[in-house]
Amino acid sequence: MSNLTVVVLAAGKGTRMKSALPKVLHPVLGRPLLGWVLETALELDPARIVLVTSADGARIEEAARLTVGERCALATAVQDPPRGTGHAVQVALEAIPEVQDGVVLVLYGDMPLVRSEGLKELLEAQSAAGAGAMALLTAELDDPFGYGRILRGEDGAVCGIVEEKDCDDQQRLIDETNPGLYAFDAAVLREVLPQLSDDNAQGELYLTDAVGLFARTGRPVADVALEDSEEASGVNSLVQLAEVRWALQARVLEQHLANGVRIEDPATTMIDADVEIGPDTVIQPFCVLRSGARVGAGCEVGPFAHLRSGAVLEDGAVFGNFCEMKNSTVGPGSKVKHLTYLGDVTIGTRANVGAGTVFVNYDGKRKHPTVVEDGAFVGSGSLIIGPNRVPKGATTAAGAVLTTKASMAPGETWAGVPARRLRGSDAPPREDS
Ligand code: UD1
Ligand code: CA
Repeated sequence: MSNLTVVVLAAGKGTRMKSALPKVLHPVLGRPLLGWVLETALELDPARIVLVTSADGARIEEAARLTVGERCALATAVQDPPRGTGHAVQVALEAIPEVQDGVVLVLYGDMPLVRSEGLKELLEAQSAAGAGAMALLTAELDDPFGYGRILRGEDGAVCGIVEEKDCDDQQRLIDETNPGLYAFDAAVLREVLPQLSDDNAQGELYLTDAVGLFARTGRPVADVALEDSEEASGVNSLVQLAEVRWALQARVLEQHLANGVRIEDPATTMIDADVEIGPDTVIQPFCVLRSGARVGAGCEVGPFAHLRSGAVLEDGAVFGNFCEMKNSTVGPGSKVKHLTYLGDVTIGTRANVGAGTVFVNYDGKRKHPTVVEDGAFVGSGSLIIGPNRVPKGATTAAGAVLTTKASMAPGETWAGVPARRLRGSDAPPREDS
């Protein structure tokens, strides 16, 4: 059983976002920024996660609980007022007095591109460095401005970090920077944290000073170079949020392509996190698939299709141009090909929904469901007002307005406004659109 504690810092104000929404709650591909960091933390299988927020962090805590759920113990700590990253970790450890040993990994809530692979290397380096060690990631950047700089002793080992604002002219030239990811021996961290001082340019307790304290007391300080320095990007502004979104979108699309999803033009395809797609499904350009959508194998989607939360396409379903669906299922082999809205609709097997059909699910107060059974044929331009049912093999004629008073029987055809049963209709001729 691991004795890993992951501390996630999220007490920063995020003023540069210029948004009323707390920075780490800004959504990226259907997850809050913080959710990406927590998912990465969970991949390390920690014994517990400690989230540090500022005094107004109740919504952040709630979002974290929602993400973590039952998967891991979650403790929270409030920094009021925030007095620096070192203070944040002090407050985190005060929230878990029972944890006196093991390893403490510190992550920032606004760094969603960090991968678990690099963190695993960091943890391995910490444990390989011997008793009481710490390890940190380092990144060489073309433009190190703003980052803490790594200081190395004559033996080449890391012996400290100096913040941009505290650098002298020589130190400012160092291009090896601190991404802000560290693994500490918990007992030694508890010993050195009270020694941090705020005698620096920002008057804060710097966590980075813990590095020097480990080194000065003879504890091993290991370092691991981050292979892809992109992972060190933090989000401070909406521009940077857009940049990390691109990076994460590329990863999500690559994963689906690797799984055999035929995405015709990744550059114009938006797929959130937490979307399932089966192999040999073709996603044509300009589609938006939101979190929670589930698409089976061998489906055709788009171009210009919008799958919102609760959208399910079963194997072999077709969901075509300018179609939107929410909380709806299109059954195996069924076709919804053109200009259609499905809201709260359940469609069975091998049914066909014609062009320009709207399932009218909202009466201004409540949402109402509709069921379209196996083999039904909904004619072009139908309005199906929910709650409703188009039974097995039934047909609505083009332009039919099926009100909630309709009571169709299997195989019947209904037509008109409001739609009425066509006399003598039982098995109408049928074509695919
Ligand atoms: C920090 C590092 C710097 C590193 C950089 C990488 C310190 C002193 N410096 O600087 O060496 O190069 O990150 O991005 O650690 N936070 C709190 N409570 C606080 C202050 C910060 O929770 O009191 C959180 C913030 O929400 C943020 C993270 O800690 O997630 C980093 O804080 P920030 O003030 O942005 O640190 P930097 O000045 O960027
Ligand atoms: Ca920062």
